[in-house]
Amino acid sequence: GKVAVLMGGNTPEREISLISGRAILESLQKSGVDAYAFDPAEKPLQHLQSDGYARAFVIIHGKGGEDGKLQGALEYLGIPYTGSGVMASSIGMDKHRTKLIWQSIGIPMAKSQYLEKTGYKQGDFKLQVKLPVVVKPVDDGSTLGLSKVYDENQLYQAIDFAFQNSERVLIEEMVVGDEYTITVFDGKVYPVVKIEAPEGEYDYQNKYFTDDTKYICPYDLGALQQKINDWALAGYNAIGASGVARLDFMVDKENNVYFLEINTLPGMTNHSLVPMSLAAAGYSFDQLCLMILDGASI
Ligand code: DAL
Ligand code: MG
Repeated sequence: GKVAVLMGGNTPEREISLISGRAILESLQKSGVDAYAFDPAEKPLQHLQSDGYARAFVIIHGKGGEDGKLQGALEYLGIPYTGSGVMASSIGMDKHRTKLIWQSIGIPMAKSQYLEKTGYKQGDFKLQVKLPVVVKPVDDGSTLGLSKVYDENQLYQAIDFAFQNSERVLIEEMVVGDEYTITVFDGKVYPVVKIEAPEGEYDYQNKYFTDDTKYICPYDLGALQQKINDWALAGYNAIGASGVARLDFMVDKENNVYFLEINTLPGMTNHSLVPMSLAAAGYSFDQLCLMILDGASI
């Protein structure tokens, strides 16, 4: 039957979603799948039913697409969809609650302080973690709303900036070290990617639009690798993820590992990390798209 590639949407990561979506659409069509682009920002979701779609390939990154709301609507409409379900999507989009769950199973993470907009007053605020810190919205992706703060007098501005994107903010002790990511797909781990961004700034631009970021994959973390794999799998299972997810982590000079977050709808652009990881395991982008589609369920 017909497949809708759900892309775009009204989310802060709309631009990236469209890039991921177009790549997936083209790939599925090349493989002979009867696939069409479907943008919920342009067409009510109920059209999935009236237009006779049998399945949905979800690739709407960010709040409103990756956070369980869309998944709930698809459940309600009875359209089988790819990736994580309602609960895993909601938890995965929430860096604070992911953290609470992961802490309870011993996954190592940086110390952090959680703030809600209601109840936050600049004058009463006391920093409870050590500088330097990373200030970020609890529920955004692609480094949107994120600032690195080295000096206490930059802190309020960073908090206000994050609050522009979200009602809730996380202030995390900055890990100085190397940046990595690991893919879990259907309960199996795939090769690590090491990310070497210019000046260590793996920001929006360096994620998607420059060719200055270096990626090393497969990257073997030696004695740490088995632990990383175990933590990644445990982290994926603890939030109840399914299909593809990508877990980002850092390793400091003393080989301490810090998991940052899980992405339940990771990017699928030609700069993205999941396709790189799967390629290192011998799967082409076309195969990856078909494998993801194959997992569509309600
Ligand atoms: N949030 C972006 C799309 C990612 O994690 O790849
Ligand atoms: Mg993310």
